[in-house]
Formats: sequence, structure tokens, C-alpha cells
Amino acid sequence: MIMKPYMCLGIESTAHTFGASVVSSEGRILSNEKRVFTTESGGIVPQQAAEHHVQHCDSVIKEALKKAKKAIKDIKLVSFSQSPGLGHCLRIGGMAARSIASIHKKDIIGVNHCVAHLEIGRLVTKAKDPVLLYVSGANTQVIAYEGGKYRIFGETLDMGAGNFIDTFARTLGLGFPGGPKIYELSLKSKKFIPLPYTVKGMDVSFSGLLTNLQQKHKSGKYLKEDLAFSMQETIFAMLVEVAERAMAHTGKEELLLGGGVACNKRLQEMAGIMCVERGAKLFVPPNDLLVDNAAMIAWQGMLQFNAGERLKIGDAKVDPYLRTDEVNVSWR
Ligand code: ATP
Ligand code: FE2
Repeated sequence: MIMKPYMCLGIESTAHTFGASVVSSEGRILSNEKRVFTTESGGIVPQQAAEHHVQHCDSVIKEALKKAKKAIKDIKLVSFSQSPGLGHCLRIGGMAARSIASIHKKDIIGVNHCVAHLEIGRLVTKAKDPVLLYVSGANTQVIAYEGGKYRIFGETLDMGAGNFIDTFARTLGLGFPGGPKIYELSLKSKKFIPLPYTVKGMDVSFSGLLTNLQQKHKSGKYLKEDLAFSMQETIFAMLVEVAERAMAHTGKEELLLGGGVACNKRLQEMAGIMCVERGAKLFVPPNDLLVDNAAMIAWQGMLQFNAGERLKIGDAKVDPYLRTDEVNVSWR
């Protein structure tokens, strides 16, 4: 379908982040604004995060338009994260999108957040057909396109890698978010302490490792930096191993990183070494597109809209549990 260039307003609200972004149909990101709900404990109470999104949705959307130097009349399509995520949070973004679409008579489209991570990575890195290692707070999945769908080849059997890292960081008294602080601390150590390593096929598990690390910390026999260093080496080796297995299984020669945990330079380095060793290529989007963001929601919406998908405002409901492999891939 050939269309005149147009603008899409994307709205992200699956969890901590409320984001708004204006992206052009040629793939130019004109703005990518956000506010992130944080607490002292780092834990997320869905109602509180939703309340945060209610408070900030108006200003974030206005900021996104202003930064892009666009008015609402310049927007053709409104895209929102429809699945998966926390129901309370998803509903705020969905409501905002539906209100704008109905008041200003815009087209509306709903997208899957996990698939959007992969597609924004393909846009900005020019990766063609990668395996995606998607490592965020709540999600840890190895995803690739096969047989007309985005398939989940492997995933965490318990918690997401980011939630695991942030929980361990709180145990060490480092505060939230823990990922960047754990990384800084790990640079002070070169002493590797062997830790439980749980890979099952292409799946990973972190809960036993978390208990083990908490016991080691409590014993007082280990330095915090050695635990931080060894934890990173262990879980990143697990993640790189399952990503490599998925690449071998699918025959794909590109690895794309996604999710906030992928901002970690050591994970990027280890993934890079694995790719060099198997003659594959690593693609890493910039940090603001690795973490949850609305630009990826806008871009994903345009891919679906351009492929002919249409959504009625009355059908624009959220689906907290829709899985990546249930998404109908109309645009590839
Ligand atoms: P979801 O699971 O819905 O995608 P989320 O809101 O929890 O989302 P992200 O923003 O993708 O996820 O990722 C959050 C994780 O990324 C946290 O564990 C955080 O500690 C980690 N993180 C964020 N920035 C960095 C960084 N610069 N270096 C290392 N880790 C980081
Ligand atoms: Fe995400």
C-alpha cells in the first residue's frame, strides 16, 4: 500500500514508563519523551504506577508534539501499546490514545510491546532478520521470526533478568534501578566466584541464583564487588548461551539486543564476542531505544497501518497477557 508520508503519535504505558513520541512514516524519530514511575523500594504497585501515568500523560504527550514541532493536526495515526503489560498501566495509555483518536478524528492502532522492541531495532540498526535477545525488567525472551510469526525460542522460567538484578542490587543496598550501579561496582572486581548456572534448553532461570547470592552476601565472606562481577558474568553467559543456541537453531546470522538490561556494556561485550566467534553480527540500538520507549510503539503502529491493518476505536482494548507468538505479523 503506497501512502503519502505522515506522522504517528506513539504512546507507551506497559509498566513504569509513560512515553509519547512522534515518528514519521519514513522512520525519522522527531521526539521520544517519557516519565518513569520510581519508588524508594523499586517495587511496582500497579495502581500507583497507573496514577503516575494519569498525572503525567497530558504533559508528556504535549512535550512530544512540541519537541517534534508538530501540532495534533499534523498527526494521522495514534499508536498505543496494547499488550502485554500491567493492566492498570496499559489502560491509561489506551484511554489517552482512544480519547485523542476520537476527539481529533485520527486513525488508531494497537501494538505488541515485545514485537515493537524488535522492529525499532531493525529500523535503527538496519539488521534484517535478527534473533532478538530481549532483556528488560519483567521480560527475558529470545525471539525470532519463523514460519510467519515472531516465535519465542527461549525465555525465563521465573523472573525477568532486570527484576533479578534490581532485587539483588537492593540486597546490596545499592538502590533502584540497580542495573547501572551493579555494573559500576563490577568494574572494581576481577575475582570470579562460581555461582549456580541454570540453562534448560533455550530457557533460563534466576530464582536459585538469587537465593544463593543473598546467602553469600549474608555470610559476610564475600566482597560486594566480587558478587556483582560474578553475578553479571554468570547471568550474561546464560543469556548469551541461549541466544547462540537460538541462532544455531534458526540459522540466523544477526543478533539484536533489546530491553533496559541490554544497556549493560558487559552484556554487549559478551554478546559481541559470541557473534565474532560464530561469524555473526551484533546490533545494539542506542540506550533510549533499548529501554521502554514510545518511538518503538509509533514505528510498530505504522508498520501495521501501512500493511493495511485497521482498528475501530470501540475494539481498541488492551490485552495484558497476549504473547509475542500470538501476534498476527501482517507487515513482513
Ligand atoms: P518491560 O519488562 O515492561 O519491558 P521495564 O520497564 O522493567 O520493562 P526496561 O526499561 O526495558 O524495563 O529495563 C529496566 C531494567 O534495565 C532494569 O533492571 C534496570 O536496572 C536496567 N537498566 C536500565 N538502564 C541501564 C543501564 N544503563 N545499564 C545497566 N542496566 C540498566
Ligand atoms: Fe520493554
